[in-house]
Amino acid sequence: MKKNKKKIIIANMKMNGSLNFNIDYLNAIKINFNNYKNLNIGLCVPYPYLFQAKEFLKGSNIGWGSQNVAKFENGPHTGEVSAEMLKDFDSQYVIVGHSERNTAYCESDENIANKFERIKKYKMSPVLCVGETLIEREAGIMERVVSSQIDTIIQIYGAEIFEDSIVAYEPIWAIGSDMAATPIQANKMCNFIKEHICKSYNSDFENFNIIYGGSVNSKNAVQLFTSESLDGVLIGRASVNIDEFSQICSTADSS
Ligand code: PGA
Repeated sequence: MKKNKKKIIIANMKMNGSLNFNIDYLNAIKINFNNYKNLNIGLCVPYPYLFQAKEFLKGSNIGWGSQNVAKFENGPHTGEVSAEMLKDFDSQYVIVGHSERNTAYCESDENIANKFERIKKYKMSPVLCVGETLIEREAGIMERVVSSQIDTIIQIYGAEIFEDSIVAYEPIWAIGSDMAATPIQANKMCNFIKEHICKSYNSDFENFNIIYGGSVNSKNAVQLFTSESLDGVLIGRASVNIDEFSQICSTADSS
């Protein structure tokens, strides 16, 4: 990671937490994580806890947000939560296209593109997850898979929509598996993604970031943070363990 650039740490709490758990968790984060000078930390919480995250974290250096958004504007869409509503809670980050959602709810690339656009419209940062399955990696087609996930967004909205956004390379085989990508694999794919998006944009991005996610923990973080092409990490399980999360952030801050 570049020495003089703030590293991005996105925590994906997934469907974890409770009002009680969050009191200690958010307090610990606010107290222990507020002084990191070299990090931009964003906590993506389940929707019902957005208000609590906002109450605890407002005035701190830590951002918050959600793990999904509706592709629609406000209206007759039972059970959905719009980008406007997320903005109402001062959300800064929205994860979109996570493979756990794509698999369980059959999200198409077009849906994901529409959600991405909604997030941008309300001036929040999308954290777009892209990545290949193990079969696709073994077949050597990971670059083709990842570029087609990205190209739908570029075709509909143009590459400039990636300004002020984050793309997370999250190989599906590495998520929840304790089999993180090696720094070499992560570096190579993050480099590829950055080049792929930049070549479609006829200007330079001012703020466009690529991060890695998939079984990040306090041990492999040390190596991952040495990868030149990574601007940060997306952390799932390890982010709800405050000791692990602290160690990762402390490593990131000092690397
Ligand atoms: P994990 O999850 O760190 O638990 O592998 C990462 C993610 O799904 O974003």
